[in-house]
This record gives sequence, structure tokens and C-alpha cells, in this order.
Amino acid sequence: MDFEQEKLPLHVAIIMDGNGRWATQRDLPRIEGHIAGIESVREAVTATREIGIPYLTLYAFSKENWSRPKEEVQGLLHLLELYLLKELPMMMEHEIRFMAIGALEDLPKKLQVMLDDVMEKTKRHKALTLNIALSYSGRQEILHAVRSVLRDMKAGRIKRIDERVFARYLYTAAMPDPDLLIRTSGEMRLSNFLLWQMAYTEIYVTETLWPDFRREAYEEALMEFTRRERRFGSLKEY
Ligand code: FPP
Repeated sequence: MDFEQEKLPLHVAIIMDGNGRWATQRDLPRIEGHIAGIESVREAVTATREIGIPYLTLYAFSKENWSRPKEEVQGLLHLLELYLLKELPMMMEHEIRFMAIGALEDLPKKLQVMLDDVMEKTKRHKALTLNIALSYSGRQEILHAVRSVLRDMKAGRIKRIDERVFARYLYTAAMPDPDLLIRTSGEMRLSNFLLWQMAYTEIYVTETLWPDFRREAYEEALMEFTRRERRFGSLKEY
């Protein structure tokens, strides 16, 4: 698709929803939906890189997801390991910086080590920053930032706090806020995702389930975004 480059988002966030429904519709175990969803992750990453959008944040595992059946949680964490192993060469080749965001200390040690390794190896890449949110909760992120602010104030490292200073304490420090949030499978909720960062984000919801959300569907969402006029709360003439 031909996009008006200057109207494209700088940062896209995606709530990848509907893997379970996709599997259930096919009489398959839920994990098959997550496996199929990985192909959509690949297509979204490749398209974002090729189109030239510099930040992509994917909601892969929320704090709330820990309460799912043990086999599903283990299956998802295992898929993440496989994804990291398989995709590291691609990230090296295409200059992609990988970042895991969330309460990473909740994750199994082995996965933490793998995440650190991929983050370390890709940290100088500049073409695309790929954030994967894991054991993530927007409220927890804000609380975590508040605690760090208090600690730094007490230690005299900062004197005052405003929006810019506060944003530096979030997992997304130094990144632009998402311009566009895509949510698949029709749900109209934020689900505790990037609560601070999405104050002015445009929301695009599609009925398409995540495993079916491939490049064409992604490009359609981007195209729709380029047609919108953003207001950031200001009143323009009608
Ligand atoms: C939501 O579908 C999806 C998830 C909770 C997990 C998303 C994970 C992947 C796409 C695969 C692994 C990710 C990476 C980055 C390699 P759901 O299970 O809530 O679907 P449902 O609402 O239909 O039940």
C-alpha cells in the first residue's frame, strides 16, 4: 500500500486478542491459536519495519494472564522462548532493537536470561524498537514509576516532577507515546495496557481475530489512521 509517509504513526501498540476463539472455532486446543498468532506477530513486525514505523509494542502476556490454566501459561511462555530463538537472527539482520517490558521478575529465570540476552544483542539497533509486554499491567507500571520517583526525590536526584520527568520512569522512557492502538477480535477495552502513554492514542478495533490479522489487515488499520485528524484535546474550527 502507498501511505502518506508523514501521516503514519511513529508508534503502534497492539492488543493481540482472539487466539483462543480462533482455536475454539476450529475445535483445536487454545494453544494452537497462540501458535497461529505467532505468524501474525511476524507479519506485523516485518510490515512495521518495511513501512518504516520506528516503534511497535505488542501485548503478549498481561499480569492477569497468570490466572489462566497452567498448561496455557506454560505453553505461552514456551512459545515466547521459541520466538526469541527463531527471530534473533532476523532482528540482527534488520536492525531491530528488542525490549521486554513489564514485571519481568515474575517470569521463569530461563526466560529472563533469554530476554536479557536478546535485549543486550540488539540494544544498538535503530531501525525499529520492538517492545513485547510481558507480565505487564499499566497500573503496576505507574506504581512502579511512582516508587522510583519517590526514591530519587529522597536521594536528591530529582527536585520536581512533571509529565516529562514522570514519563522517564516508565518502561517506555525515551519513546514516543503510541499514536495508534490496534485491538483485534472486537473488544472495546484498554485492558490495563499502557495507561499513561495512551492518553491521546487513536483506537482502531477490528473484528478480525489475531491469528487472521495479517499484513493486509494491518495495512488497512494504518491506512485508516492516516485518514484521521488528530486533535490532542484542542478545538479546531469545524
Ligand atoms: C489473546 O488471545 C492473546 C494472548 C493472551 C497471547 C498473545 C500471544 C501471542 C500472539 C503469541 C506469543 C507472542 C509473541 C510475541 C511471540 P486470547 O487467548 O485472550 O483469545 P480469546 O479472547 O479468544 O480467548
